[in-house]
Amino acid sequence: MHILITGGAGFIGSHVVRHFLKSYPSYTVTNLDNLTYAGNLANLADVDKMANYRFIKGDITDGAFLLNLFESNRFDGVIHLAAESHVDRSIANPTEFVVTNVLGTVNLLNAARASWQNGMEGKRFYHISTDEVYGSLGSDGLFTEQTAYDPHSPYSASKASSDHFVRAYHDTYGLPVVISNCSNNYGSFQFPEKLIPLFINNIRQNKPLPVYGKGENVRDWLWVEDHAQAIDVIYHQGKSGETYNIGGHNEWTNIDLIRLLCRILDQKLGREAGESAKLITYVTDRAGHDLRYAIDSTKLQRELGWVPSISFEKGLELTVEWYLANQVWLDNVTSGSYQHYYQKMYGRA
Ligand code: NAD
Ligand code: DAU
Repeated sequence: MHILITGGAGFIGSHVVRHFLKSYPSYTVTNLDNLTYAGNLANLADVDKMANYRFIKGDITDGAFLLNLFESNRFDGVIHLAAESHVDRSIANPTEFVVTNVLGTVNLLNAARASWQNGMEGKRFYHISTDEVYGSLGSDGLFTEQTAYDPHSPYSASKASSDHFVRAYHDTYGLPVVISNCSNNYGSFQFPEKLIPLFINNIRQNKPLPVYGKGENVRDWLWVEDHAQAIDVIYHQGKSGETYNIGGHNEWTNIDLIRLLCRILDQKLGREAGESAKLITYVTDRAGHDLRYAIDSTKLQRELGWVPSISFEKGLELTVEWYLANQVWLDNVTSGSYQHYYQKMYGRA
């Protein structure tokens, strides 16, 4: 079994690569990543010497490169995570999201289709998507696999578009695809532009915590290692052409989550109770800010038996401990020094 994982140097991708290498020593795992600002090979330092691991620096927006890659390798499966993933960046630069998330996905579909045209049996194209394609909920209800797409940000619109292309390649060309739509992930190796690592980093440095709007938006948080386990189950047992929602049944308003983070960090940093919360600063809201995401993952639980393994309180504590124990990683990422190293090694992303 030879699996191509795209975006394996990013946050979730690095956990998926690690999970597959450790759980399936007989598989070969090729990680294809362009090492953008979000890609960091240090995320895989503990597994990158494994005999069944290969890294290729390459760009999914380059269709000819992908066709060559699939011609010279016999991939049995693709797990596609490479993407531009941050909503605020998509508001600042939407076109980049169209190019990477839409065109990049179509290029990958074309390469898989060309490579597997003489036999799709046993092949699998697994597209990793997000709950944001479903839009925003009011105070009740959950996103199911039947919820109509209603994306609001350029990021979620680009992910929605890529999901449509994946389904179109299944229906038109018979490509054996599967899609999952997951809620907000948290855990180690997340780039500190996203809420949880950004706020941990700011609290440790006594910097302001910029809460968008009133902090009343709700997100459904899932530990990244539970997401990797769900991806394993869906990759191996999901039905071709199907979609699975993945979520933690774990809704938090941003402000409650931020206050919890502040309490954990007060304790871990030996600060007086209430000290870190003084850093909370309300700032202008994100444009088009979705109010609430919440996932109904009953289908995944009922059909494939997946459930999250740890509580949010436990996962968040482990996460805080990881960032505090890996301040060099945080400092390298925030200073950009990790990128200078890769630029010397591979040239610019
Ligand atoms: P990330 O930004 O941490 O990582 C993205 C990776 O893709 C990076 O390693 C980057 O170098 C790589 N990449 C970007 N453009 C590329 C290109 N043109 N060619 C090759 N590689 C490229 O993202 P993440 O948070 O780990 O998200 C991974 C996937 O999961 C994305 O598709 C995202 O939409 C989806 N997702 C994320 C979350 C979340 O909470 N983070 C939740 C649900 C779904
Ligand atoms: O739901 C899944 C999605 O979760 C993924 O598809 C995206 O890739 C991922 O980035 C994430 O999107 P969000 O926009 O929900 O995550 P983010 O960490 O950017 O923000 C979480 C919430 O916190 C959101 O309501 C905005 C708010 N926020 C965020 C930042 C960075 C703040 O209030 N202040 C901030 O500085």
